[in-house]
Amino acid sequence: MDPESIRKDFPILQKKVRGKPFIYFDNSCVTLKPQQVIDAVTGYYTDHTACHGRSIHAFAAETTREFERSHRSLEKLVHAKKGEVIFLKNCTEGINIVANGLDLKEGDGVVTTTLEHNSNLVPWLKLQRDKGIDHKMVSVDETGVLDMDVLAETVDKNTKLVSLVYTSNVTGTTINAKEAAKIAHDNGALLMLDAAQTVPHHPVDVKRNGIDFLAWSGHKMLGPSGTGALYGKKDLLEKLGQFIVGGETVKDVRPPGWDVEDLPMKFEAGLQDYAGAAGLAAAAEYLMRLGLDKVEQYELKLGKRLYEGLDAIDGVDRLGPKEAESALVAFSVKGVDSHDIAMVLDESANIFVRSGQHCTHYYHRTQGLKGTVRPSLYIYNTAEELELFLEKLGEIIKMLS
Ligand SMILES: Cc1ncc(COP(=O)(O)O)c(C=O)c1O
Repeated sequence: MDPESIRKDFPILQKKVRGKPFIYFDNSCVTLKPQQVIDAVTGYYTDHTACHGRSIHAFAAETTREFERSHRSLEKLVHAKKGEVIFLKNCTEGINIVANGLDLKEGDGVVTTTLEHNSNLVPWLKLQRDKGIDHKMVSVDETGVLDMDVLAETVDKNTKLVSLVYTSNVTGTTINAKEAAKIAHDNGALLMLDAAQTVPHHPVDVKRNGIDFLAWSGHKMLGPSGTGALYGKKDLLEKLGQFIVGGETVKDVRPPGWDVEDLPMKFEAGLQDYAGAAGLAAAAEYLMRLGLDKVEQYELKLGKRLYEGLDAIDGVDRLGPKEAESALVAFSVKGVDSHDIAMVLDESANIFVRSGQHCTHYYHRTQGLKGTVRPSLYIYNTAEELELFLEKLGEIIKMLS
């Protein structure tokens, strides 16, 4: 992987901020977009603006073809079969579709962890409050890693779903999906993984790992903002209840009922973001061309240096295990507000990172942390940028402490 040639595909990297180049280390939130994605998005508006499926004119036919082609690219990305990937607006929507479609009843068990992003926590808290489901949170260890033995002790015959963060957005660690699937399936439960931070950075194979549902975001994998997807095994999606219904989700309507549409349209309610889908497919194709194994290796190299560099700075208290698993991690500095560090990095060095709780409010509370700073790197970030970040961070922490 050559980050210098990759950088040429990203027009925004030519931009100057305060008259100088910038360093973008906020990729776990949203990644930058290559020209290929921008062209795919604008192509819908400049070449064939129309809705899919409904009208029969030339533009509509092309939009239908493109929308279907986009699905094929997303299926290929995670090794799913035709019809098993639903195009959505984000990862959160995917998790909510499963949470509300499973028809969970009072007392049904759902197991998550204390490390979850709010997107894979609040839907279960809501079902606990509204329906009385039995939601259990498995504590991760002191480095934020999920011990599979502890998971196995918690999942039981009452568990209907095990829903876990695949790659953490604060520690960068990835769970063993195959083991998690075995634990769930041995107890007659299903496994859903929140792969918002996995699909953009690691090869993902839903079939090889026995994953039942997988939700992820498009905007964190070079795709347009407000795009995402949900994978589900065909038979499970066929059984899953509809959450959002209306146009496109039905074949016919016979009050008081309706005939449910085939997959994936059963879950793609209303007119879709065709430009977004085309852009997301272009992003998937871009990543597959690079090779997700190469992306993973490159990020691991950056991640190792990030961990080593952070650990060498006085006052930095880093989350996550000893060894890096990816190029993202959150850290705190005693007595210094995380937002102050992020603000000074931005204003004095044009380095963009995220600060706060990163939608892991509960995990931060378990760690007694008000907030953390999170650098998250991606394919266009360079070793030189990382060195500059570490140098500036050291100076800023000295100044603020
Ligand atoms: C681990 C994880 N899960 C879920 C989400 C939510 O993703 P989206 O905004 O696409 O719904 C995020 C976003 O930060 C995330 O990092």
